[in-house]
Amino acid sequence: MEKIKIIMDVDTGIDDAIAMCLALGNEKIEVLGFTTTYGNRGVDRTTENTLKILELTGKTDIPVAKGATRPIVTPFEEGIKSFIHGVDGIGDIQPPLPAPSIKPLEISAVEFMAQTLRDADRPITLVPVGPLTNVATLIMAHPELLPKIKEVVIMGGSTMQGNRTAVAEANIADDPEAAYIVFKSGLKIKMAGLDATHKGYFTFDEIKELADKNRIAGTIYKMCDVYITHCRDRMKLPGLAMHDSLPVAWLINPDLVKSEDYYVTADINGRHTYGMTVTDVHRTLNEKPNVTVALDVDRLAFIKLIEDAFEALS
Ligand code: BDR
Ligand code: CA
Repeated sequence: MEKIKIIMDVDTGIDDAIAMCLALGNEKIEVLGFTTTYGNRGVDRTTENTLKILELTGKTDIPVAKGATRPIVTPFEEGIKSFIHGVDGIGDIQPPLPAPSIKPLEISAVEFMAQTLRDADRPITLVPVGPLTNVATLIMAHPELLPKIKEVVIMGGSTMQGNRTAVAEANIADDPEAAYIVFKSGLKIKMAGLDATHKGYFTFDEIKELADKNRIAGTIYKMCDVYITHCRDRMKLPGLAMHDSLPVAWLINPDLVKSEDYYVTADINGRHTYGMTVTDVHRTLNEKPNVTVALDVDRLAFIKLIEDAFEALS
């Protein structure tokens, strides 16, 4: 079986950490490297968190390259996501995960992506699960490498409501201009946004059951405390949304996800709609569909994939 080779762009983050485990613990995926971005916290912190998760899972040979410190146009406010992911970004567990002994590469995220694509004998899949700044920068800096990108499977966006603003999902809202560039790039794009990720959750009871399952599941369970409060009390969700795992699961088993092809762009002008993924569901714009949009997920099969990955890594 030929593995699906991916570069995963993360802003680690509790659900990013879980998605990393899914990618690292599933035999169908080969992670060529993790690139990091600001997002859930500043990039120094998200990079450190990424290294910590690699140590936790024993996958210390996988390269990590540090990326964007801020969006292309707007300023970045580090504070705003600490009530979702904790001050350290991975749940403020006590004791914290040990400081990593591994280090990021000397080259930047975009340089790492470019080098990896250039050296690859077959096109590679990009899986960005944070703001799209690194991917947009790659597209602008290295148009010659676009044919080496098989597809971009994004966690971000929504056809209707948002979670950062009334209509904008957080990853797109963090850097709308970057999202605009990615959607306009002509690349093959899949979008795992809130329509489907809000249906891909562990119930609050199911998450408790993780506590005693195995070493990795136990650590992840501890991290989820602050995220449970966010999903339950603030977002009023029926469980813990596994946003960033959905693009990975979609690659592992495409049948898990129901999707439709639509024309999608990111709004970069609107007063109330800045950062919204405007999705032409009723096909009124007379534009060719450019994105395959996830609309639903087989919840139980999805969380089973995540649980199996925890087990495989423990
Ligand atoms: C996205 O925002 C971040 O907080 C999560 O890690 C996920 O990537 C969900 O909207
Ligand atoms: Ca994320």
